[in-house]
Amino acid sequence: MRIEKKSKFNLKGINGIVIPVFKNRSFERIIKKYPEVEFFIKEHKFKGKIGEEIIFNSVKHKMLIIVAGAGDYRSLIDARKFAKNIIRILKENRIKNVLIQFIQNIESSLDHLVNFIDYLYINNYCFDLYKKDYKEAKKLNNVNIFFEFKNDLTNNIIENRSVIDKSVRLVRDLVNEIPSKVNPDYMIDLFKQVSDKNNLEISIMREKELNQKGFNGLASVGQGSPYEPALIQLNYIPEKYKKSVAIVGKGITFDSGGLNIKTGNSMLEMKSDMAGAAAVLGILKSVSDLKLPVKVYGYAAIAENMPGRKAYKPGDIITYRNKKTVEVINTDAEGRLVIADALISAAEEKPDYIIELSTLTGAIIVALGDSFAGLISNNKKLITNLVKSGKRTGEYLWEMPMFEDYRESIKSKIADLKNANYRGASSIKAGLFLNEFTANIPFAHIDIAGTAFLSKQNKFYSSEGATGFGVRLIYDFLNFLK
Ligand code: BES
Ligand code: MN
Ligand code: ZN
Repeated sequence: MRIEKKSKFNLKGINGIVIPVFKNRSFERIIKKYPEVEFFIKEHKFKGKIGEEIIFNSVKHKMLIIVAGAGDYRSLIDARKFAKNIIRILKENRIKNVLIQFIQNIESSLDHLVNFIDYLYINNYCFDLYKKDYKEAKKLNNVNIFFEFKNDLTNNIIENRSVIDKSVRLVRDLVNEIPSKVNPDYMIDLFKQVSDKNNLEISIMREKELNQKGFNGLASVGQGSPYEPALIQLNYIPEKYKKSVAIVGKGITFDSGGLNIKTGNSMLEMKSDMAGAAAVLGILKSVSDLKLPVKVYGYAAIAENMPGRKAYKPGDIITYRNKKTVEVINTDAEGRLVIADALISAAEEKPDYIIELSTLTGAIIVALGDSFAGLISNNKKLITNLVKSGKRTGEYLWEMPMFEDYRESIKSKIADLKNANYRGASSIKAGLFLNEFTANIPFAHIDIAGTAFLSKQNKFYSSEGATGFGVRLIYDFLNFLK
């Protein structure tokens, strides 16, 4: 889908017009341009609320005209919902080339317009790789946008958002792809491809080297799988930069639970347990595509958690590279075990910040659902800026306390730490556990178990499955980092 801001009103090649109607703004200019609309607006008591829509065939223009409630022009939430609605209506009506004509004079912020663009892209995504029929049939080709007033949106900005969207798509396709295909070897191939294309530094450690260097969390969790685990480092080093940030992601390509095997439907969505690592790949791609002046180290902790013949066991004790020891209480609390290795490695580079994204706990879904990721950090500046980026992009974060007194419950009787049996506040305690491996570098843990993969569509997303959560959020954070 190509989105373009047009400087002239032109219906050539267009087969549908969308007219946004904002709340609490005069309809006068719209009615002047499209007199037919007056009847509908009165008849339907049209207010401009999100979800209101009128579709009619224009005799004059010989095409469908869609009058759609666009909500409050100051609300980023409405911009996203409006974009989602438009895509749905256009698909339903098989409109492939559309002109969106903004007639009312609104003083939308650039953030509002950027969210509108982002969520047009986002909602035009559909994972249909395994659908034999109607592939492509419903995809939009061209979205032309025409404003009858001035604003700060440029085609350059739209192009940048489309570049970021390509990373978001890469992540969504990767997370949605089937688990027999996306094994650790597959992840490595994809990281290599992006590194080659974007000239990024890459280093990959596999079993032998992980063992040699003491990355024993990954080595242990990976033992039950026929595919070797891996620690991937993917670096973007621009010519000029002031700050350096490490982004760490959980890459469990499938989480069966290991010997503490998952039961019932709880294993069903576990192909998405590598969404953190996928986000790391997407972030590195987007910052390098758009040449951000920030040094970014990417880390992906890759393993498949399986109950194979050599699987690690409850009762095992893992000794880490930094000499800390962890008692394995539950092989299904594998995320923190592999992330610990990646954090140790990230901390060795001494970046200004470490931000880590993981589908870590089921408890975060209970607490926050699918619209907020959990943020656990002890650094005020990180918290403030990450939460801000969440609001700006719609990838919301909700702060949970990194409460030091809870540290008692992650301690083991026979090792330094234990990986489960925390009794309550398990998302927070998982964050405390991870913080033990960051060597006091300002650190933020983001639990994306609820936001990375949707079991059903929600207010901003028209389709279930992978969201690409983290790419736009962290790009925004890095973009504003000073
Ligand atoms: N990958 C899961 C967490 C998860 C659950 C992600 C649901 C997405 C949806 C993680 O490895 C896990 O199994 N966590 C356990 C930990 C428990 C055994 C201590 C959990 O949260 O139940
Ligand atoms: Mn697990
Ligand atoms: Zn997991």
